[in-house]
Amino acid sequence: MRFSVNGASIEIDVDPRTSLLDLLRDHLGLTGSKKGCNQGACGACTVLADGQRINSCLALAVQYQDRDITTIEGLGELDALAPLQQAFIEHDGFQCGYCTPGQICSAVAMDEELRRGLPSHVTQDLGADAIEPNRDELRERMSGNLCRCGAHNGIIDAIKSVFGEAAR
Ligand code: FES
Ligand code: FES
Repeated sequence: MRFSVNGASIEIDVDPRTSLLDLLRDHLGLTGSKKGCNQGACGACTVLADGQRINSCLALAVQYQDRDITTIEGLGELDALAPLQQAFIEHDGFQCGYCTPGQICSAVAMDEELRRGLPSHVTQDLGADAIEPNRDELRERMSGNLCRCGAHNGIIDAIKSVFGEAAR
């Protein structure tokens, strides 16, 4: 199979039943994406496929051969963190860090969803071209990413500092 991951072209022979998460972690050594529940319930495995957030534990790798996959490793470097990665540090957006890669990937795609006017359960103006990133919207839209450490307030503060109303 052929994949594009974090801008690199990769050709690899794997079992066609391999999930995208297992491909990334077990075959490509990209262990930033985490396996929390392995059944689509926690969001720890969230990666981007052509900029859209997906649960990679529920995705068959074979179906993503023609998509641009981005993981947390593709968003920033250790010595050059992405703005949202830095914000998670500044706002205490994590404790153990297990959910953090999924939270950050998810938030990056969420910002695009807001800008494209995709409504959520709490959106007031369904006809808006772009949706205001207020706290209720951010909380609702990040509700698929669980944090067992309970760092949700810091997570939302970090996201708000980069993608919130005041940051636009
Ligand atoms: Fe994929 Fe929990 S590991 S949603
Ligand atoms: Fe520990 Fe979120 S920081 S699960």
